[in-house]
Amino acid sequence: MRILLFCGKGGVGKTSLAAATGVRLAALGKRTLVMSVDPAHSLADAFDFGGDLFDSRTGDPYSVAPNLDIQEVNIQREIRRHWQEIAAYVSGVLRTTGVSGVEAEELAILPGMEELSAMMYVNQYRRESRYDVMILDCAPTAESLRFVSLPTTLEWYMKHIFPFQRTMLKAVRPIANRLSPVELPPDNYFANVAKLFSRLEGVDAILSDPSITSVRLVTNPERMVLRETQRTFVYFSLHGLTVDSIMVNRVLPPEVNDAFFAEWRSSQSTILREIDEYFAPVHVRRVPLFTHEVLGRQRLEELARALYAEDDDPAAVVRTERPYSFEKFEDRWEVRVDMPFASKSEVGLFKKGDELVVEVGTLRRHIGLPTSMAALEPSRARLAGGKLIVEMREK
Ligand SMILES: Nc1ncnc2c1ncn2[C@@H]1O[C@H](COP(=O)(O)OP(=O)(O)O)[C@@H](O)[C@H]1O
Ligand SMILES: [Mg+2]
Repeated sequence: MRILLFCGKGGVGKTSLAAATGVRLAALGKRTLVMSVDPAHSLADAFDFGGDLFDSRTGDPYSVAPNLDIQEVNIQREIRRHWQEIAAYVSGVLRTTGVSGVEAEELAILPGMEELSAMMYVNQYRRESRYDVMILDCAPTAESLRFVSLPTTLEWYMKHIFPFQRTMLKAVRPIANRLSPVELPPDNYFANVAKLFSRLEGVDAILSDPSITSVRLVTNPERMVLRETQRTFVYFSLHGLTVDSIMVNRVLPPEVNDAFFAEWRSSQSTILREIDEYFAPVHVRRVPLFTHEVLGRQRLEELARALYAEDDDPAAVVRTERPYSFEKFEDRWEVRVDMPFASKSEVGLFKKGDELVVEVGTLRRHIGLPTSMAALEPSRARLAGGKLIVEMREK
């Protein structure tokens, strides 16, 4: 079973590329699900299933072709199903602080709930062996990232805080409810958190297993989009997910030579070079800008042909090595970079803004540093077991 996450900034083409990938996989005979997690769903639209044909409000998997289901996670229904107690408690607390009813209910929809709900489905379908490939069309970067760390956060909470809080609350509730203006969570709140957790159990292991989960970062050849793609790449690496390809969408095709686009063409070619350099050795795919929107089955097939060669299997595992990983120690951080062929004499190291630049002979790797490490300086590097280990310390 494979899970493919399509992530990137809003409007770059995630939904189109995720849907096209689904179309190709289904044609190869794989039982495929494309699940939309973006609250601004457009998956059904990409298949041109509007109106009566498709009722996305049900939020259930819907068959659009042999071997191909789509599902748009419906957050309102998910809340009714799984988050009711939690949302009720949070909105109750908000109301006591003076936030009005409707607003409190809106605010009680915590960021990341869509993603967590999607993860519960992924977990469920995995247990049922329902699909060979599950493709997640994620929400735009900022929101879609949080769920990556949520299962681990939840696990920590369940182990350390939850049992303690629960016992303590049992003891203090009778008095506290009389004194405190903020209502304490009722016992079914805890039962619900426990149930939610059990539905998510194992998801973090699936996400960080590169032979199951691969992230495909969708981007455009534009400076601002690239910056965000780099940040996303760093974030996923930090959380142990493997990005196995970068998909650069909307590349001007060679036949466009109108003077109006001359500057676009030259900036695109500069940025395409930067993309290759920054993300190497991760595979970079380019997708041309079409003369039209990608709407409906035929257009999706056309997009799939631009994206994949005839004999390409979009679900193939192409990378199991993380390009780099970070580890924190008491007095330092370590950045581990895969460098099977490097010998010590050739390695050069320096920092450029919030990037660590590693040079091995003529090869240069840029490693984006997470915010928490951006102020550190490389202090030492050593090669061990085909990996370059760079120590980072405060200046
Ligand atoms: N390569 C392309 N050429 C032309 N139009 C495209 C291309 N890729 C996507 N589009 C169109 O751009 C719009 C946004 O794409 P979409 O896949 O919905 O982006 P996202 O899901 O990242 O927000 C859609 O109307 C889609 O049909
Ligand atoms: Mg979309």
